Amino acid sequence: MVKQYEKPVVEWTGRWTFVLAATGSTVGLGNIWKFPYMTGTDGGAYFIAIYLLCLLLVGIPLLMAEVALGRRARRNPVAAVEFWRAEVHAAPHWRWAGRLGVLAGFLVLSFYAVVGGLGLAYVFFSAFGDFVNAGHESVLAELGHLTASPLDMIGWHSLFIALVMVVSMRGVNRGLERALRVIMPVLFILLAMLVIYAWRNADFDRAVDFLFSMNPGQLRWQSLMDALGHAFFTLSLGMAAMMAYGAYMPQRNSVAVSALVIALADTAVGLAAGLVVFSAVFAQKLAPSSGFGLLFQSVPEAFGGLPGGQFVGCSLFLVVSLAAWSSAISVMEPAVLWCQETLGLARQWSVFVVGVAAWLLGMMTVFSFNIWSRHTFLGANFFEWINFVTASLLLPLTGFLVAVFAGRVVSSGYLGEAMGLRWRPAFLCVRWSLRYLTPAAIALVCVWSVHGFISTLCDQGRAPAWCVSASPMAKSMDEKSKNGVIPAATGAPNSAAAPSRDLAPRR
Ligand code: PHE
Repeated sequence: MVKQYEKPVVEWTGRWTFVLAATGSTVGLGNIWKFPYMTGTDGGAYFIAIYLLCLLLVGIPLLMAEVALGRRARRNPVAAVEFWRAEVHAAPHWRWAGRLGVLAGFLVLSFYAVVGGLGLAYVFFSAFGDFVNAGHESVLAELGHLTASPLDMIGWHSLFIALVMVVSMRGVNRGLERALRVIMPVLFILLAMLVIYAWRNADFDRAVDFLFSMNPGQLRWQSLMDALGHAFFTLSLGMAAMMAYGAYMPQRNSVAVSALVIALADTAVGLAAGLVVFSAVFAQKLAPSSGFGLLFQSVPEAFGGLPGGQFVGCSLFLVVSLAAWSSAISVMEPAVLWCQETLGLARQWSVFVVGVAAWLLGMMTVFSFNIWSRHTFLGANFFEWINFVTASLLLPLTGFLVAVFAGRVVSSGYLGEAMGLRWRPAFLCVRWSLRYLTPAAIALVCVWSVHGFISTLCDQGRAPAWCVSASPMAKSMDEKSKNGVIPAATGAPNSAAAPSRDLAPRR
């Protein structure tokens, strides 16, 4: 018998607070600079259908597993896995499912904060009217100026981390909960207003066409990999965040309903952001793109040329910053909780330790944009490596371990009890997915992603060592990417913060 459900020290208070907080975690940069472009170039409505299937069959079961494991254990993710391991007498190596997750979350925080800081910078730049009718060259120059200055970047990075720490320091109820109750509604309202603005003032029809028209001709293997990779990454899986948030989830909340609502809200935000961004991009006759190039070049340029561009551009970057903020808050939580429980530190000190460590590590990412941009190891600089190692290796590995642990090591009865899913057919589907589909899908995405990274480095002639392993498949992918079919810089489908090729931090 699984030990009696323990009353947690802290618990989300409202009925929907868990869903709100978890949606804050899932809605991030990926929804804005990755998902809409992928949708538009990978088959439109067909891609959306495939993506929803991937969410339902792969993402949601794993999300439910992470949340349920966390909720039953009521501890930090490392201790939660340890608790379950003892419960089901599993081998010691399963500990790594928790440890790697917390590590991955911490690493993601370090470089996500740098990109979040850039988003914050652009709120101010657009508010001051820097992009009003600014042409392509001057937008490019402004970005070049910012990224070339380590001091400026450190400043924005520090401000972003400080904002995350301030919220986190006040604890789960007085900090996270209160902040997210403001952040999320403001984000939704701003986004809704931007959609209305785009509909009235920009090329809304073309954006609708780009995102929703049925283009079976665009469907490729890459589309499926993109859909799978994004379904996994966008739900903040593999970084222990959902396990930590699950630890505060009240028993009366339904894991399954919450997971469904979170996934739908996340998709809706991605589509709405796509409508706004691409309406503006098409109105200014710019080419659609993704990643850094889209957010920090095309978007300022596009909004700068629209009526009231100063105000709407600023609102859009506010949406970007709020989305990044709520994601960063969630990804800091596992490490903070671990410090509290394992090192016995007070909440404030835990946040201080984790925040300062992430801030320091983030410096390396900052320097990858300027003074260290030419310091490469096997062809990639620090930022590209940390992004690759976390997004393409650590997150999938943790996700894989959690899926197999929940689906195979924990017995059906325990898992069912922890998930509280009483509708038997649904539970059987979830468990079947955790046993077979989710691990297989994650392994596939991982291999594809590593292959993409290697072939990109080979293709760009960064280090000949990579070309030895570049197979014909890599070559054919490279051909497509040369033709602009494959967007991501490193080819990593679930890349957390990949700049587009033209702006990879190398000078
Ligand atoms: N869904 C988030 C995003 O799209 C994923 C994420 C969560 C990334 C937390 C970093 C931190 O950006």
